[in-house]
Amino acid sequence: MKEYNVAVVGATGAVGEVMLEILAQRKFPLKNLKLLASSKSAGKKIPFQGEMLTVEKLDRNSFKNIDIALFSAGGDRSKEFAPIAADAGAVVIDNSSAFRMEHDVPLVVPEVNPKDIALYKNRNIIANPNCTTIIMVVPLKPLHDYGKIKRIVVSTYQAVSGAGAKAMAELDMQVRQYVNGQEMTVSALPYQIAFNLIPQVDVFTDNFYTKEEMKMVNETRKIMGDSSINVTATTVRVPVFRSHSESVTIETEKKITRDKAIELMSNAPGVKVVDDPQNRKYPMPIVVSGTDDCFVGRIREDISCEKGLSMWIVGDQLRKGAALNAIQIAEVLIKEYL
Ligand code: HSE
Repeated sequence: MKEYNVAVVGATGAVGEVMLEILAQRKFPLKNLKLLASSKSAGKKIPFQGEMLTVEKLDRNSFKNIDIALFSAGGDRSKEFAPIAADAGAVVIDNSSAFRMEHDVPLVVPEVNPKDIALYKNRNIIANPNCTTIIMVVPLKPLHDYGKIKRIVVSTYQAVSGAGAKAMAELDMQVRQYVNGQEMTVSALPYQIAFNLIPQVDVFTDNFYTKEEMKMVNETRKIMGDSSINVTATTVRVPVFRSHSESVTIETEKKITRDKAIELMSNAPGVKVVDDPQNRKYPMPIVVSGTDDCFVGRIREDISCEKGLSMWIVGDQLRKGAALNAIQIAEVLIKEYL
Protein backbone atom coordinates (compact mmCIF):
# COMPACT_ATOMS: atom_id res chain seq x y z
CA MET A 1 0.00 0.00 0.00
CA LYS A 2 1.24 3.45 -0.88
CA GLU A 3 2.26 5.58 2.11
CA TYR A 4 2.14 9.35 2.46
CA ASN A 5 4.08 12.16 4.09
CA VAL A 6 1.62 14.00 6.28
CA ALA A 7 2.04 17.26 8.19
CA VAL A 8 -0.23 18.32 11.05
CA VAL A 9 -0.23 22.10 11.47
CA GLY A 10 -1.39 23.03 14.97
CA ALA A 11 -0.34 19.66 16.37
CA THR A 12 -0.45 20.79 20.00
CA GLY A 13 -4.00 22.23 19.91
CA ALA A 14 -7.18 20.44 20.99
CA VAL A 15 -8.02 19.36 17.42
CA GLY A 16 -4.36 18.61 16.53
CA GLU A 17 -4.10 16.18 19.43
CA VAL A 18 -7.23 14.35 18.31
CA MET A 19 -5.89 14.26 14.74
CA LEU A 20 -2.87 12.27 15.95
CA GLU A 21 -5.13 9.95 17.92
CA ILE A 22 -7.32 9.30 14.85
CA LEU A 23 -4.41 8.88 12.40
CA ALA A 24 -3.15 6.09 14.68
CA GLN A 25 -6.59 4.54 15.34
CA ARG A 26 -7.50 4.40 11.65
CA LYS A 27 -4.03 3.18 10.64
CA PHE A 28 -3.64 5.97 8.12
CA PRO A 29 -0.90 4.91 5.67
CA LEU A 30 1.88 7.21 6.92
CA LYS A 31 5.39 7.28 5.54
CA ASN A 32 6.36 10.16 7.73
CA LEU A 33 4.42 12.38 10.13
CA LYS A 34 5.60 15.93 10.67
CA LEU A 35 4.23 17.94 13.58
CA LEU A 36 4.16 21.69 13.14
CA ALA A 37 3.16 24.50 15.49
CA SER A 38 4.07 28.06 16.46
CA SER A 39 7.48 28.82 17.97
CA LYS A 40 5.84 28.62 21.44
CA SER A 41 5.29 24.88 21.07
CA ALA A 42 8.32 24.04 18.89
CA GLY A 43 10.61 21.50 20.53
CA LYS A 44 7.78 19.87 22.50
CA LYS A 45 7.83 16.06 22.32
CA ILE A 46 4.63 14.17 21.55
CA PRO A 47 4.26 10.38 21.68
CA PHE A 48 2.97 8.76 18.51
CA GLN A 49 2.79 5.02 17.90
CA GLY A 50 5.62 4.17 20.28
CA GLU A 51 7.91 6.99 19.14
CA MET A 52 8.50 10.48 20.50
CA LEU A 53 7.99 13.07 17.75
CA THR A 54 9.38 16.57 18.10
CA VAL A 55 7.14 19.51 17.19
CA GLU A 56 8.82 21.76 14.60
CA LYS A 57 8.27 25.46 14.11
CA LEU A 58 5.94 26.23 11.22
CA ASP A 59 7.66 28.25 8.51
CA ARG A 60 7.73 28.74 4.75
CA ASN A 61 9.99 25.71 4.27
CA SER A 62 7.93 23.29 6.33
CA PHE A 63 6.14 21.62 3.40
CA LYS A 64 8.89 20.17 1.19
CA ASN A 65 7.91 16.60 0.19
CA ILE A 66 4.64 16.76 2.14
CA ASP A 67 1.74 15.00 0.36
CA ILE A 68 -1.08 16.02 2.72
CA ALA A 69 -1.11 18.95 5.17
CA LEU A 70 -3.82 18.90 7.85
CA PHE A 71 -4.25 22.46 9.13
CA SER A 72 -5.88 23.30 12.45
CA ALA A 73 -4.11 26.38 13.70
CA GLY A 74 -6.65 29.16 13.16
CA GLY A 75 -7.68 31.22 10.16
CA ASP A 76 -4.73 33.61 10.11
CA ARG A 77 -2.15 30.81 9.98
CA SER A 78 -4.19 29.04 7.30
CA LYS A 79 -4.42 32.19 5.18
CA GLU A 80 -0.67 32.64 5.37
CA PHE A 81 0.64 29.08 5.16
CA ALA A 82 -2.00 27.01 3.31
CA PRO A 83 -1.16 28.59 -0.09
CA ILE A 84 2.56 28.01 0.63
CA ALA A 85 1.90 24.34 1.40
CA ALA A 86 -0.31 24.02 -1.68
CA ASP A 87 2.35 25.59 -3.91
CA ALA A 88 4.91 23.17 -2.50
CA GLY A 89 2.71 20.32 -3.79
CA ALA A 90 0.83 19.29 -0.66
CA VAL A 91 -2.94 18.91 -0.67
CA VAL A 92 -4.15 21.07 2.22
CA ILE A 93 -7.16 20.01 4.28
CA ASP A 94 -7.98 23.13 6.26
CA ASN A 95 -10.05 23.17 9.41
CA SER A 96 -10.38 26.96 9.63
CA SER A 97 -13.00 29.18 8.00
CA ALA A 98 -10.38 30.89 5.80
CA PHE A 99 -11.31 29.22 2.50
CA ARG A 100 -14.68 27.59 3.15
CA MET A 101 -16.82 29.93 1.09
CA GLU A 102 -14.38 30.49 -1.79
CA HIS A 103 -16.06 29.24 -4.96
CA ASP A 104 -13.08 27.22 -6.18
CA VAL A 105 -12.40 25.48 -2.85
CA PRO A 106 -14.50 22.40 -2.07
CA LEU A 107 -16.19 22.25 1.35
CA VAL A 108 -16.64 18.61 2.17
CA VAL A 109 -18.40 16.22 4.51
CA PRO A 110 -17.58 12.77 3.08
CA GLU A 111 -21.01 11.29 3.92
CA VAL A 112 -22.74 14.18 2.10
CA ASN A 113 -20.70 15.48 -0.86
CA PRO A 114 -17.64 13.24 -1.36
CA LYS A 115 -17.56 13.95 -5.09
CA ASP A 116 -16.68 17.61 -4.42
CA ILE A 117 -13.24 16.41 -3.26
CA ALA A 118 -12.29 16.23 -6.96
CA LEU A 119 -12.30 20.05 -6.99
CA TYR A 120 -9.17 20.07 -4.79
CA LYS A 121 -7.27 20.28 -8.07
CA ASN A 122 -8.27 23.95 -8.45
CA ARG A 123 -6.04 25.18 -5.63
CA ASN A 124 -4.76 22.08 -3.79
CA ILE A 125 -6.99 23.10 -0.88
CA ILE A 126 -10.04 21.36 0.61
CA ALA A 127 -11.95 23.09 3.40
CA ASN A 128 -13.28 21.23 6.42
CA PRO A 129 -16.63 22.76 7.49
CA ASN A 130 -17.47 24.26 10.86
CA CYS A 131 -18.17 21.65 13.52
CA THR A 132 -21.81 22.59 14.10
CA THR A 133 -22.53 22.38 10.37
CA ILE A 134 -20.86 18.97 9.95
CA ILE A 135 -22.74 17.47 12.88
CA MET A 136 -26.07 18.75 11.51
CA VAL A 137 -25.75 17.93 7.80
CA VAL A 138 -24.78 14.26 8.22
CA PRO A 139 -28.21 13.25 9.64
CA LEU A 140 -30.11 15.79 7.50
CA LYS A 141 -28.68 14.54 4.20
CA PRO A 142 -30.93 11.41 3.92
CA LEU A 143 -33.97 13.50 4.92
CA HIS A 144 -33.15 16.10 2.25
CA ASP A 145 -32.69 13.41 -0.40
CA TYR A 146 -36.10 11.94 0.46
CA GLY A 147 -38.27 14.96 1.24
CA LYS A 148 -36.30 18.07 0.17
CA ILE A 149 -35.65 20.40 3.11
CA LYS A 150 -37.05 23.90 2.62
CA ARG A 151 -36.17 25.40 6.00
CA ILE A 152 -34.00 24.58 9.01
CA VAL A 153 -34.37 26.18 12.46
CA VAL A 154 -31.44 25.22 14.68
CA SER A 155 -30.28 26.13 18.18
CA THR A 156 -26.90 24.84 19.31
CA TYR A 157 -25.49 23.88 22.71
CA GLN A 158 -21.76 24.07 22.01
CA ALA A 159 -19.13 22.57 24.28
CA VAL A 160 -16.07 24.54 25.36
CA SER A 161 -13.89 22.18 23.28
CA GLY A 162 -15.02 24.23 20.26
CA ALA A 163 -13.18 27.23 21.68
CA GLY A 164 -9.97 25.23 22.10
CA ALA A 165 -7.81 23.64 24.77
CA LYS A 166 -7.62 26.89 26.80
CA ALA A 167 -11.41 27.11 27.11
CA MET A 168 -11.57 23.48 28.26
CA ALA A 169 -8.96 24.22 30.93
CA GLU A 170 -10.90 27.33 31.94
CA LEU A 171 -14.14 25.45 32.59
CA ASP A 172 -12.20 22.93 34.68
CA MET A 173 -10.53 25.73 36.63
CA GLN A 174 -13.73 27.70 37.22
CA VAL A 175 -15.45 24.62 38.68
CA ARG A 176 -12.51 24.12 41.07
CA GLN A 177 -12.53 27.82 41.98
CA TYR A 178 -16.27 27.67 42.70
CA VAL A 179 -15.85 24.63 44.96
CA ASN A 180 -13.04 26.40 46.83
CA GLY A 181 -15.06 29.59 47.23
CA GLN A 182 -12.62 31.55 45.05
CA GLU A 183 -13.38 34.18 42.45
CA MET A 184 -13.49 32.66 38.98
CA THR A 185 -10.88 33.57 36.39
CA VAL A 186 -12.25 34.55 32.96
CA SER A 187 -9.90 34.78 29.98
CA ALA A 188 -10.49 32.29 27.14
CA LEU A 189 -14.24 33.00 26.81
CA PRO A 190 -15.98 36.40 27.12
CA TYR A 191 -17.81 35.47 30.36
CA GLN A 192 -17.75 32.89 33.11
CA ILE A 193 -18.86 29.62 31.51
CA ALA A 194 -19.18 27.42 34.61
CA PHE A 195 -22.88 27.33 35.65
CA ASN A 196 -23.71 29.73 32.82
CA LEU A 197 -24.72 29.87 29.12
CA ILE A 198 -23.27 32.37 26.65
CA PRO A 199 -25.59 33.11 23.70
CA GLN A 200 -22.71 34.19 21.50
CA VAL A 201 -20.24 32.02 19.61
CA ASP A 202 -17.77 34.06 17.53
CA VAL A 203 -18.30 37.76 16.72
CA PHE A 204 -21.49 39.50 15.61
CA THR A 205 -22.13 40.39 11.97
CA ASP A 206 -24.13 43.31 10.56
CA ASN A 207 -27.42 41.42 10.58
CA PHE A 208 -27.21 40.68 14.36
CA TYR A 209 -26.44 37.03 13.76
CA THR A 210 -23.00 35.82 14.87
CA LYS A 211 -20.38 34.54 12.44
CA GLU A 212 -20.94 31.03 13.82
CA GLU A 213 -24.64 31.30 12.97
CA MET A 214 -23.95 32.57 9.46
CA LYS A 215 -21.49 29.68 8.97
CA MET A 216 -24.37 27.29 9.61
CA VAL A 217 -26.50 29.15 7.05
CA ASN A 218 -23.95 29.41 4.26
CA GLU A 219 -21.97 26.21 4.73
CA THR A 220 -25.11 24.05 4.88
CA ARG A 221 -26.17 25.31 1.46
CA LYS A 222 -22.74 24.80 -0.07
CA ILE A 223 -22.28 21.26 1.29
CA MET A 224 -25.82 20.19 0.38
CA GLY A 225 -25.38 21.80 -3.05
CA ASP A 226 -28.74 23.55 -2.63
CA SER A 227 -28.86 27.31 -2.23
CA SER A 228 -32.63 27.23 -1.75
CA ILE A 229 -32.45 25.81 1.79
CA ASN A 230 -33.37 28.51 4.32
CA VAL A 231 -31.52 28.27 7.61
CA THR A 232 -31.82 30.27 10.82
CA ALA A 233 -29.50 29.50 13.73
CA THR A 234 -28.92 30.53 17.34
CA THR A 235 -25.56 29.35 18.64
CA VAL A 236 -24.89 29.07 22.36
CA ARG A 237 -21.81 28.08 24.39
CA VAL A 238 -22.66 25.74 27.27
CA PRO A 239 -20.62 24.41 30.22
CA VAL A 240 -19.98 21.00 28.63
CA PHE A 241 -16.40 19.87 28.00
CA ARG A 242 -16.82 18.10 24.71
CA SER A 243 -19.53 17.31 22.07
CA HIS A 244 -21.92 19.80 20.57
CA SER A 245 -25.70 19.31 20.78
CA GLU A 246 -28.26 20.83 18.43
CA SER A 247 -32.02 21.21 18.55
CA VAL A 248 -33.06 21.04 14.90
CA THR A 249 -36.46 21.54 13.27
CA ILE A 250 -36.86 21.13 9.53
CA GLU A 251 -39.69 21.83 7.14
CA THR A 252 -39.74 19.66 4.03
CA GLU A 253 -41.50 19.71 0.68
CA LYS A 254 -42.73 16.14 1.14
CA LYS A 255 -44.01 15.03 4.56
CA ILE A 256 -41.58 12.81 6.49
CA THR A 257 -43.18 10.79 9.28
CA ARG A 258 -41.30 9.91 12.46
CA ASP A 259 -41.04 6.26 11.34
CA LYS A 260 -39.76 7.21 7.89
CA ALA A 261 -37.20 9.59 9.40
CA ILE A 262 -35.94 6.85 11.73
CA GLU A 263 -35.68 4.42 8.80
CA LEU A 264 -33.85 6.93 6.57
CA MET A 265 -31.39 8.06 9.23
CA SER A 266 -30.76 4.54 10.56
CA ASN A 267 -29.58 3.52 7.09
CA ALA A 268 -27.40 6.58 6.52
CA PRO A 269 -23.61 6.43 6.90
CA GLY A 270 -22.22 8.19 9.96
CA VAL A 271 -25.60 8.46 11.73
CA LYS A 272 -26.71 6.60 14.85
CA VAL A 273 -30.32 6.86 15.91
CA VAL A 274 -30.84 6.62 19.68
CA ASP A 275 -34.53 7.25 20.13
CA ASP A 276 -36.44 5.32 22.77
CA PRO A 277 -38.37 7.87 24.84
CA GLN A 278 -40.14 5.24 26.97
CA ASN A 279 -36.79 4.12 28.30
CA ARG A 280 -35.31 7.64 28.43
CA LYS A 281 -32.86 6.90 25.64
CA TYR A 282 -31.62 9.89 23.67
CA PRO A 283 -28.14 11.19 22.76
CA MET A 284 -26.20 13.18 25.36
CA PRO A 285 -22.71 14.74 25.21
CA ILE A 286 -21.25 12.56 27.98
CA VAL A 287 -22.22 9.41 26.06
CA VAL A 288 -21.30 10.66 22.59
CA SER A 289 -17.84 12.08 23.46
CA GLY A 290 -15.06 9.93 22.03
CA THR A 291 -17.28 8.37 19.34
CA ASP A 292 -17.45 8.95 15.60
CA ASP A 293 -21.12 9.07 14.58
CA CYS A 294 -23.63 11.91 14.63
CA PHE A 295 -26.28 10.76 17.10
CA VAL A 296 -29.98 11.62 16.66
CA GLY A 297 -32.91 11.24 19.02
CA ARG A 298 -36.09 12.97 20.25
CA ILE A 299 -37.41 12.57 16.70
CA ARG A 300 -40.98 13.83 16.39
CA GLU A 301 -43.39 15.33 13.88
CA ASP A 302 -43.67 19.07 14.48
CA ILE A 303 -47.19 19.78 15.80
CA SER A 304 -46.94 23.41 14.64
CA CYS A 305 -46.23 22.64 10.99
CA GLU A 306 -47.72 20.00 8.68
CA LYS A 307 -44.46 18.97 7.05
CA GLY A 308 -42.15 19.68 9.96
CA LEU A 309 -39.88 17.37 11.90
CA SER A 310 -37.96 18.10 15.11
CA MET A 311 -34.94 16.25 16.45
CA TRP A 312 -31.95 16.42 18.80
CA ILE A 313 -28.50 15.85 17.33
CA VAL A 314 -25.22 15.34 19.23
CA GLY A 315 -21.73 14.86 17.79
CA ASP A 316 -18.21 14.87 19.17
CA GLN A 317 -16.98 18.26 18.05
CA LEU A 318 -13.30 17.32 18.21
CA ARG A 319 -13.78 14.08 16.25
CA LYS A 320 -16.56 14.25 13.62
CA GLY A 321 -16.83 18.02 14.00
CA ALA A 322 -13.15 18.55 13.16
CA ALA A 323 -10.31 15.99 13.17
CA LEU A 324 -12.20 12.91 12.00
CA ASN A 325 -13.94 14.69 9.14
CA ALA A 326 -10.57 16.03 7.92
CA ILE A 327 -8.99 12.57 8.04
CA GLN A 328 -11.99 10.99 6.30
CA ILE A 329 -11.47 13.57 3.52
CA ALA A 330 -7.80 12.53 3.36
CA GLU A 331 -8.84 8.88 3.12
CA VAL A 332 -11.11 9.54 0.13
CA LEU A 333 -8.38 11.69 -1.42
CA ILE A 334 -5.74 8.94 -1.29
CA LYS A 335 -8.21 6.24 -2.37
CA GLU A 336 -9.64 8.11 -5.35
CA TYR A 337 -7.18 10.77 -6.42
CA LEU A 338 -3.55 10.61 -5.19
N1 HSE B 1 -16.65 27.23 15.93
C1 HSE B 1 -16.79 26.09 16.74
C2 HSE B 1 -16.99 26.46 18.18
C3 HSE B 1 -15.62 25.17 16.61
O1 HSE B 1 -16.64 27.56 18.56
O2 HSE B 1 -17.55 25.65 18.91
C4 HSE B 1 -15.70 24.48 15.27
O3 HSE B 1 -14.64 23.63 15.03
